[in-house]
Amino acid sequence: MVSVRSTLVALALALTAASGCTELPASGVARGQVLYTNCEQCHGKSGEGSTLVQAPPIAGLPAWYIEAQFLHFQTGLRGAHPDDVEGLKMRPMSRTVKDPADVKVVAEYVASLPAVKTEATMGGDATKGQAAFATCAACHGADGQGNPDLKAPKIAGQADWYVVRQLTKFKGGVRAYDPADTAGATMKGIAGTIPDEAAMRDLAAYIHTL
Ligand code: HEC
Ligand code: HEC
Repeated sequence: MVSVRSTLVALALALTAASGCTELPASGVARGQVLYTNCEQCHGKSGEGSTLVQAPPIAGLPAWYIEAQFLHFQTGLRGAHPDDVEGLKMRPMSRTVKDPADVKVVAEYVASLPAVKTEATMGGDATKGQAAFATCAACHGADGQGNPDLKAPKIAGQADWYVVRQLTKFKGGVRAYDPADTAGATMKGIAGTIPDEAAMRDLAAYIHTL
């Protein structure tokens, strides 16, 4: 009796969902757009990010990078370190999109969004940062547009607070803590050579201007 009733309840819920919710297209960027509604509360409607939840702007990042990072959060290569406060927020969210084909289309949708310019917040010196950026250009490109062959993402224009935080995490092993994260390990080595937070702020100030 109980099982019949619960079956009916489940059926009623399914019918309500089918009639009440936005229809989910079968595939493509349109499907990615609907899936992205799960991300908006933190990354914003236009992918502009949120300082409140420390979720970075992701609009216009390359699809290959978004997909790779998303899968890293899912498998625990990123965001599982106990000191990674922000990563621990993103990790459970990465499990809300289970099908790898869906991860791909949501990444394609985010990549299709125009990049959003944020306010500078960290007070770094962009001129000093520009000099230090020569090292970074080898992989991220002179204009910070990234290089997929080296798995180096676009960083041009990225929010300064997010850049400083990621450099700190790489340097401290809070990101790229697992040897299986080979791309992360490359960046971790570089971050280890940045002397202090002031230097990170300067780099972030310059990257923000790109
Ligand atoms: C509860 C808030 C929250 C939700 C919802 C959320 N994220 Fe995130 N996301 C974050 C935070 C916080 C970070 C930053 C983690 C860090 O500092 O390492 C992040 C990081 C990311 C990154 C890494 C960006 C980079 O430059 O490396 C990607 C990609 C990402 N999120 C995609 C998504 C997608 C796609 C969704 C929806 C399916 C989503 N997120 C939903 C909070 C969230
Ligand atoms: C030897 C190549 C290489 C050099 C040089 C390099 N990077 Fe990276 N960087 C990478 C790779 C690869 C990644 C992606 C790591 C991952 O997949 O987690 C990365 C990731 C990043 C990220 C994270 C982006 C995001 O969206 O989360 C930032 C910020 C960054 N690099 C800044 C810098 C700065 C600043 C410098 C110069 C001081 C620099 N990088 C030099 C290869 C490099």
